[in-house]
Amino acid sequence: MLSRRTLAGLLALASLSPARVAAQAATPLSRIAFGSCADQAQPQPIWEAILAWRPDLFIFAGDNVYGDFKTADAANLKRAYEAAAGIEGYSRLRSTIPHLAIWDDHDYGLNDGGAEFPHKVVAKEEFLKFWKVPAGDARRSRDGLYTAATFGPPGKRVQIILLDTRWFRSPLKITDQRGAAGKERYLPDRDPAKTMLGPAQWAWLAAELRTPAELRLIVSSTQVLAEGHGWERWGNLPLEKQKLFDTIANARADGVVFLSGDRHIGALYRETPPGLYPLVELTSSGLNKVYEKAKEAGPNRIGDLLAVANFGTIDIDWAGRQLTLALGDGLGEVRRSLDLRFEALRRAG
Ligand SMILES: [Fe+2]
Repeated sequence: MLSRRTLAGLLALASLSPARVAAQAATPLSRIAFGSCADQAQPQPIWEAILAWRPDLFIFAGDNVYGDFKTADAANLKRAYEAAAGIEGYSRLRSTIPHLAIWDDHDYGLNDGGAEFPHKVVAKEEFLKFWKVPAGDARRSRDGLYTAATFGPPGKRVQIILLDTRWFRSPLKITDQRGAAGKERYLPDRDPAKTMLGPAQWAWLAAELRTPAELRLIVSSTQVLAEGHGWERWGNLPLEKQKLFDTIANARADGVVFLSGDRHIGALYRETPPGLYPLVELTSSGLNKVYEKAKEAGPNRIGDLLAVANFGTIDIDWAGRQLTLALGDGLGEVRRSLDLRFEALRRAG
């Protein structure tokens, strides 16, 4: 745990840009929690369990509110943020725990939305306001909301990379069998013109992965490794999924773990691309919005889907050089977990 003094310092830093946070937060993170899919119109009792877990840092991984809207004034999104601000646990976490945030489709404003969404500029303004992104932050002067921050001293650095999988994303190929197992909404599309991140974000990511860190948490609201379902996933654009692996390999970036949300289930996944070490993904969704009947064939999945309200945790044992990825439920009980040694997150040789 961080000392009280360090925590207070980090909180003060939360109003600065991530780069400044990184430069000034010299204490290593050891307890990180994250979650996604918080419907402000429904009770959110899970915040008590998250606060009781006492994370050093919390990551809002998208669908942080449900504010889909069709009018240029973004009235429904504004109402959603106002309602979220009035939820006791949500607001206590935001005022007492250092945090980072990225959006997904429902705080972007359009279900499964991508680059085509006509109101994304106003949605971004509302995001910047709600999350108190400071003046001068790079996100205010470029398209999209991707950002990164590195915490901790050399030898114990955690880099957190938050990808924007909405602003630039090309339209997905619509299924020919809506609802059928494995093709629920979308089909894989190998069109080389289609993009998940867009050229500017791809270039930024390649550079970020070359900055030094012992552990790198790549937050992608859209699932990266999950296969065997036809909802949104990186596998809908297989060439882009491969490009992500290639970008990690070319940067010689060790220590990558993926965190994702969006799906209204929790799960762990693992895939070992040629030339890389086993990549692991922890999906946590939703904080209060759960798809109880979820089924997926699940190549790459480790264990069963978790279809109860949940949050994800990353517990880092710097001395023992290992981390534990886990899913906690509304009572704070650990429902899934996986231990990973740092040495397992490295390319051979
Ligand atoms: Fe979503």
